[in-house]
Amino acid sequence: MPQRIIMDVDTGVDDSLALLYLLASPDAEIAGIAATAGNVPAAQVAINNLAWLELAGAPDIEVALGAADPLEIPLRTTEDTHGPHGVGYAELPIPTRRVSARSAASMWVDLVRERPGELIGLCTGPLTNLALALRAEPELPRLLRRLVIMGGAFNHPGNTTPTNEWNIHVDPEAAKLVFDAFSAAPADRRPLVCALDITETIEMRPVHLARLAERAGSVPVETVAPEDPSEARSAASNPIVRHLTDAVRFYFDFHHSYDLGYLAHMHDPFAAAVALDPALARTRPATVDVELTGTLTRATTVADWAGMWGRPPNADIVVATDPDRFFDRLIARIGDYARARCPGDPAPERIAAEPG
Ligand code: RIB
Ligand code: CA
Repeated sequence: MPQRIIMDVDTGVDDSLALLYLLASPDAEIAGIAATAGNVPAAQVAINNLAWLELAGAPDIEVALGAADPLEIPLRTTEDTHGPHGVGYAELPIPTRRVSARSAASMWVDLVRERPGELIGLCTGPLTNLALALRAEPELPRLLRRLVIMGGAFNHPGNTTPTNEWNIHVDPEAAKLVFDAFSAAPADRRPLVCALDITETIEMRPVHLARLAERAGSVPVETVAPEDPSEARSAASNPIVRHLTDAVRFYFDFHHSYDLGYLAHMHDPFAAAVALDPALARTRPATVDVELTGTLTRATTVADWAGMWGRPPNADIVVATDPDRFFDRLIARIGDYARARCPGDPAPERIAAEPG
């Protein structure tokens, strides 16, 4: 039986891959997508998801608009990281569908009440709309089957300030409300937290894109490079591969410009893969709290691994994974999905099928 999952995203280049990964996963049924302000404004996040869904020939999955701003502070976006519209260099077709009549927070509450204990929540953006949903439905932690959060940094530098991570940085009050709300949750309902400690080991490189294009039967199989001009666009025959290549190349350029290498940290599709299969990750329980008043450390996530605060654990933090195993699965799933949605030439005999 496919696992029902609500996505709460700030699409975003890596959020885009998380969506494609779940669309391509036979063990996933996307119950709804909450568009959260973060990488780009919420309205643009919603447009990006509607556009990817139509491009992918996906069923009419509900996209609900989230709050325009974080709980207590003005919105900060990061077009320099994800591109002017949040999808890198990709120029996605304008979607014909509109956002849902209900808000993202209302969709969270309605979906979690519909089938208690069955819905998986995946958050790959700021936690603003999950926090609003928790205010409306305090029972949400017990009504969810599982919650996976991409966010935070523990024994690892931040990517937005020296100590904090983007999704928490945008709305730290929301993040604290969420972790506090799960403090009383039973052990099997603790959020699985995919923080930078691990997601910055998920390094997508041009070869991964080339393998995905090959798996999709897309031609030509392109190898993007740092010397490619910004105005270059993919000529891949498969539209999902073409637009994905244009999106990810911007993210490669961004990481390259910060001397991180010609690569992209694929935070969100990794969190999506863990949401469907927690066995991909090894975790350790901890009590997590969020600094709100530090002059230098505001929005830093702090993990008490040893019970020094005398408070029970409220999170299971991912501490180890196998990036290659994840990329094999991502390439196989999205590659096969792209091929099936946009069949080109008949599939060449595959020498060794990658694990699905
Ligand atoms: O810090 C990385 C996270 O912030 C990712 O989810 C990225 O998409 C941005 O939202
Ligand atoms: Ca994101």
